[in-house]
Amino acid sequence: MKDSLSVIILAAGKGTRMKSPLPKVLHPVAGLPIISYILSNVKELNPKEIRVVVGHGKTIVQSVVQPLGAQCFVQEQQLGTGHAVMCANPESLEGTILILNGDHPLIQTTDLKRFIKEFEESKAGLGLLTAKVKDPGSYGRVIRHNNELRAIVEAKHAGLEALKIDEVNTGIYLIKADILKELVQQIEVNPEKNEFYLTDIIELCHEATIKMVAVEGNPRVAFGVNSQVELAQATKSIFQAKAKTLMDEGVIIIDPATTYIEPTVQVGAGSVLYPGAFLKGLTKLGTCVVVEPNAFIINSDVYDNAQVRAGSYLEDCIVRSKAVVGPYARLRPDTDIGEDAKVGNFVEMKKVKFGKGSKANHLAYLGDAEIGENVNIGCGTITCNYSADKNKYKTTIGDNAFIGSDTQFVAPITVGESAIIGSGSTITKDVPAYALAVARGKQFIKENYVKKDDKE
Ligand code: UD1
Ligand code: CA
Repeated sequence: MKDSLSVIILAAGKGTRMKSPLPKVLHPVAGLPIISYILSNVKELNPKEIRVVVGHGKTIVQSVVQPLGAQCFVQEQQLGTGHAVMCANPESLEGTILILNGDHPLIQTTDLKRFIKEFEESKAGLGLLTAKVKDPGSYGRVIRHNNELRAIVEAKHAGLEALKIDEVNTGIYLIKADILKELVQQIEVNPEKNEFYLTDIIELCHEATIKMVAVEGNPRVAFGVNSQVELAQATKSIFQAKAKTLMDEGVIIIDPATTYIEPTVQVGAGSVLYPGAFLKGLTKLGTCVVVEPNAFIINSDVYDNAQVRAGSYLEDCIVRSKAVVGPYARLRPDTDIGEDAKVGNFVEMKKVKFGKGSKANHLAYLGDAEIGENVNIGCGTITCNYSADKNKYKTTIGDNAFIGSDTQFVAPITVGESAIIGSGSTITKDVPAYALAVARGKQFIKENYVKKDDKE
């Protein structure tokens, strides 16, 4: 771009139609706030600066957009999109200004790049990005005379003829700073709604004989989120696009319509995702990983050829190559499952380093533990890591140890390598390497305790 580019994003509105206490632009679409999609797209245009107009819920909106590189301007009272632009202090801007609504999560950088290119080539003072949509509903209608852009009429003020127009305003404009500074002040309050409509700038441009260009873009650009139903539609669209991208890269998705992969997730080729798999945040799957139905994986690394079986819940953890987790396993933060290890059904782990080839196949709780390689953890084993003094203590188990079923480790405890713990033991003292430890009530037998006569 020859001129410098600055961006104004309008995000002060309450989003009344969302009927939710959360500011509209912070509603999540596939795990990310609506406004973060817009910010990441405009950032790729390398603008000189990004200004976000905040108002409703400004403190929380600010806390999300500032770390993403935007500067906030407050619109105390939401008096319309035209008023919002004035609040962004356009006086201090120069070059070309890109104005966007904060509620259009489906736009892509390519949409904006094409718009900028056509605007520049046209040598116009104002550019409007439009789209033809099947259901123009509440969008502003684009009025043309002899094909030239003339005005935008909001649906709520449009007559029957105008309502039939299927070319709508996407709320995305490019305008020379000088023109914006002059015309935005001339926008008059709409008497019916008591708002200053930015859309009036089109008529003002026409009256001032400023050259305008309307560029028709992809219908996704027009998609604004104004209700929970539209939010769900946007989410679906983002999930489907992500699934398609992954399938194009060789990921096997059995039913893309019911597989939920956030845009931030990475999945290697040859991996198989079953219906109901939900992959969130910074999750990264290697190649040929299998994720069975209803596994929920957040910010976790699953290495090549590992399997996460049905109904498992993984958060901030690592599952190394060829390990198998689940069905119905729960891995809590800071858990690291070694290569070839097995974590079976109803096993919960928290802050555990679980060595290569080790097994905990059934019903166990392991927390704050370091478990060596090829260790067998029997069914029902519990690390009693939380003490009555409200501190957490560690259990350390050496390589090749064999832990019998229903063992409790009253931490802190260290079990040496190759040690064996008899079933049902409550271990309160360290166990040396190669030792056998049994700590359970002795079995006693009282013969003929039950009188046969009673049984007859
Ligand atoms: C607006 C356009 C409409 C267009 C549609 C595209 C106007 C008058 N109408 O309608 O032509 O088809 O977008 O989605 O511009 N905002 C503020 N301050 C305000 C009011 C709104 O910052 O005082 C922000 C909102 O937070 C939102 C954006 O501006 O991000 C658009 O506002 P919204 O009320 O959603 O406008 P629409 O009715 O969708
Ligand atoms: Ca809107």
